[in-house]
Amino acid sequence: MRLTVIGTGYLGAVHAACMADIGHEVLGVDIDAEKIAALSEARVPFFEPGLQEVLGKAVGSGRLHFTTSLEEAAEFGDVHFICVSTPQCRDSPAADLRAVDAVIDGLAPQLRRRCLIVGKSTVPAGTTARLAMRVREQAPEGTDVEVAWNPEFLREGFAVQDTLRPDRLVAGVLSQRADRILREVYAPLVRAGVPYISTDPATAELVKVAANSFLATKISFINAMAEVCDATGADVMSLSEALGYDPRIGRRFLSAGLGFGGGCLPKDIRAFTARADELGVGSAVSFLREIDEINARQRRRTVDIARDMLGGTLAARRIAVLGATFKPDTDDVRDSPALAVAAAIHREGAEVAVHDPEGMDNARAVLPKLDYVPDVDKACLGADLVLHLTEWSDYRRIDPGALAVVTPARKILDARNALDASLWRSAGWTLRALGRPAQPVLPSQQTVADHAFTVDSAELS
Ligand code: UDX
Repeated sequence: MRLTVIGTGYLGAVHAACMADIGHEVLGVDIDAEKIAALSEARVPFFEPGLQEVLGKAVGSGRLHFTTSLEEAAEFGDVHFICVSTPQCRDSPAADLRAVDAVIDGLAPQLRRRCLIVGKSTVPAGTTARLAMRVREQAPEGTDVEVAWNPEFLREGFAVQDTLRPDRLVAGVLSQRADRILREVYAPLVRAGVPYISTDPATAELVKVAANSFLATKISFINAMAEVCDATGADVMSLSEALGYDPRIGRRFLSAGLGFGGGCLPKDIRAFTARADELGVGSAVSFLREIDEINARQRRRTVDIARDMLGGTLAARRIAVLGATFKPDTDDVRDSPALAVAAAIHREGAEVAVHDPEGMDNARAVLPKLDYVPDVDKACLGADLVLHLTEWSDYRRIDPGALAVVTPARKILDARNALDASLWRSAGWTLRALGRPAQPVLPSQQTVADHAFTVDSAELS
């Protein structure tokens, strides 16, 4: 089939490469000429493990091309996937749909034959119906263009595997014909056993925001428990492990720490509450505001503990920040909890040196006033306190004994509960974490809890 993928960011670039990988002819489209030039030469303009190989293979096979022209896209595609971003509005919690609308306005008048437009971006319920009207108003007579929604559930860092082997495919369609076309697009995946759920567009739109709301709720739930643990001397890592063995609860997304960030979870729950308000059912999901607030509180709590570890003030203290991205295995710093903490301690007068394996350029663009140091030892040199804010595996491999040579203060706050606390403490470090006792009560507690994290991170990958 001939597919276009409009919008070639984290979502679109992966979708385009993977659709070519499963045998389709694909044209990727973006208004950013630089990005299109890079992708045309099979260069990935951001960090996403595994994408380089799939993109290189797809471009090399001649099945994947790129353009900046919607006119070319209109002529080429039987199916047009919309993968542009739907960020939060500047002045409200609602989703900003201007990029989606601009694609429809640019594409629809140029269509000359029957085709299917399929949205993949995360949008408020009711968007497909609204866009279908917009298409009808602008597409030439007789083209009979339909709109469907097929939300994407990919995680950054695992985007290729999530696209080629998704947990499920969800198609929000208004006709048998649209359903048939989407089943044909995904035929190789469905044959491999991926569940395919065919439903109406409003349900498909909701599946995505409901899934992200559930995940955000799970994370804020365990972070709320971590606060209770801090007040009682209990250990949130053992708590997560014990809760997680109940299959109705499950261990995944139950890692307490600095909380969720990124381009999806925070803005999706806010857009959902805004849309629910418009629909008159705001009170049904008002708990999501509390989920958002619990999440914000983890950032404040981290700054409070850091201040406490330094005797009550951050002013003029030298602080090393390990991690800038919103999670490991990405260079994405959108709504990054790590950067929010780094900015807050800088505002309180600390000297901040930031290290991140992949996200330094993006972080510098957002927070140019901080120091960015491409080497962990140099970032930690003379630090009064080290903050571990994003759980890159590189940081788990740090030898605390060796790091102590450049960091004689030997104080670390593990805001991701990802370091081996007993290892750091036995090397003479004062280690604090969120939701864990300053010293384990039982000698075995440490080992069990650290084992729990290892299991979870393996599952997350
Ligand atoms: C998320 C959804 O997982 C994905 O299905 C959707 O399509 C897009 O949004 P992503 O933004 O890539 O994907 O990140 P994800 O892996 O879900 O992590 C989100 C945030 O939650 C990260 O900041 C992460 O650090 C945090 N998190 C995750 C926790 O704090 N604790 C956990 O146990 C799990």
